[in-house]
Amino acid sequence: MNWSPSSWRDFPIKQQPVYEDKELLQKVEDELRGYPPLIFAGEARNLKADLAKVGRGEAFLLQGGDCAESFNAFNAKNIKNLFKLILQMAVVLTFSSGKPVIKVGRMAGQFAKPRSSDFESQDGVELPSYRGDIVNEIGFDERSRVPDPTKLIKAYNQSAATLNLLRAFSRGGLADLNEVHGWNLDFIADHELGQKYEELSDKIDRAMKFIAACGINPENTPQLNQTTLYTSHEALLLNYEEMLTRVDSMTGDWYDCSAHMLWIGDRTRELNGAHVEFFRGIKNPIGCKVGPSMKADELIRLIDILNPDNEEGRLNLIVRMGADKVEEHLPPLLRRVKAEGKNVVWSCDPMHGNIEKSSTGYKTRDFDNILKEVKLFFKIHKNEGTVAGGIHLEMTGENVTECTGSRSCGITAEDLENRYHTQCDPRLNADQALELAFVISDTLNA
Ligand code: PEP
Ligand code: CO
Repeated sequence: MNWSPSSWRDFPIKQQPVYEDKELLQKVEDELRGYPPLIFAGEARNLKADLAKVGRGEAFLLQGGDCAESFNAFNAKNIKNLFKLILQMAVVLTFSSGKPVIKVGRMAGQFAKPRSSDFESQDGVELPSYRGDIVNEIGFDERSRVPDPTKLIKAYNQSAATLNLLRAFSRGGLADLNEVHGWNLDFIADHELGQKYEELSDKIDRAMKFIAACGINPENTPQLNQTTLYTSHEALLLNYEEMLTRVDSMTGDWYDCSAHMLWIGDRTRELNGAHVEFFRGIKNPIGCKVGPSMKADELIRLIDILNPDNEEGRLNLIVRMGADKVEEHLPPLLRRVKAEGKNVVWSCDPMHGNIEKSSTGYKTRDFDNILKEVKLFFKIHKNEGTVAGGIHLEMTGENVTECTGSRSCGITAEDLENRYHTQCDPRLNADQALELAFVISDTLNA
């Protein structure tokens, strides 16, 4: 039962790249081990306390960002637009629910991707699958697909720079509640959805003027012009995570300092596998994806391994069943977890169970299915008397065409080719994400 940051190495592991140059890999790992942590353990503890509130129904979790961050799309505009979109969605949800929204980005480290197949075929040619920019390259040629250990360093550096900008935005005035109008993204502002957001911003403006007149202002209440955006990613590449796992000097506990929160993917959550072994030893708040194949017994065993002290805010179960499966598979899990008195945070990932191929050949998701899964998630929790804690989305602040449907932009299968930019799974664009936030806010109000 002895745990160490490297004890996962004695367990069977899935979804890892095989590097040819072992010497270079060793050199890269040694270098990463010497790099500064990206987050401070105290911040991870704050998130845990925030998630404990989510678990009790006192706050709402909004987690979102790219399916896979990329080296190419790394620039200030993309980071800023996603940050603004998260803030917009958060005010929509806060205003309707009257609860704080805990904001967690799939950002600053969300690079590595599990794949359904180790190989990809195109026109009779078979090559190793693309596993994210932290591993290899997306181009369909032999050279691009060779895993390169130095990409781990590049991913670390990009994560550090991204986190730096997020911290600056959070503290430097962009998150000022007097600026809610300014969070509207240019291409949204014009139509119905933008209008709806403008109306909400006007109400917030009036409330801000009122409380300012009462003497509450950013000088005495920093929450009014500052925010916290936590970071998270799927901790898939355990060597990378191991190198950033450090002892916290204040508590003597181990924290994975590559992000505030880490999660285990649906493909790597086997009880005796390396990922569960690694996660049980770190003290961060953690997540685990829960797909339709999860059985109630298995889930309880998993909870017992990952959260043996039944700590609140420690474990987020991210349900990703699919719109047509959630009604069958979720209730038995909720009942069992409730009956056993386990403290967990339930959130809904309406993306990964709803992947389809469009008639035009693109991997896509339809907005109606996403909406349906979200609504069912809330309804099922209501029926079971459990807490629907939050939402986990793949989204971007850019005006992409990757998911079909929605009232605001009505993307068709034919439109997908216009701005299909994702490195991996199709993301909601800013309109679709904001529209979804308004629907959730109506659900929370109902
Ligand atoms: C993901 O979140 O990008 C992902 C791969 O999810 P899942 O493990 O649920 O398939
Ligand atoms: Co994805």
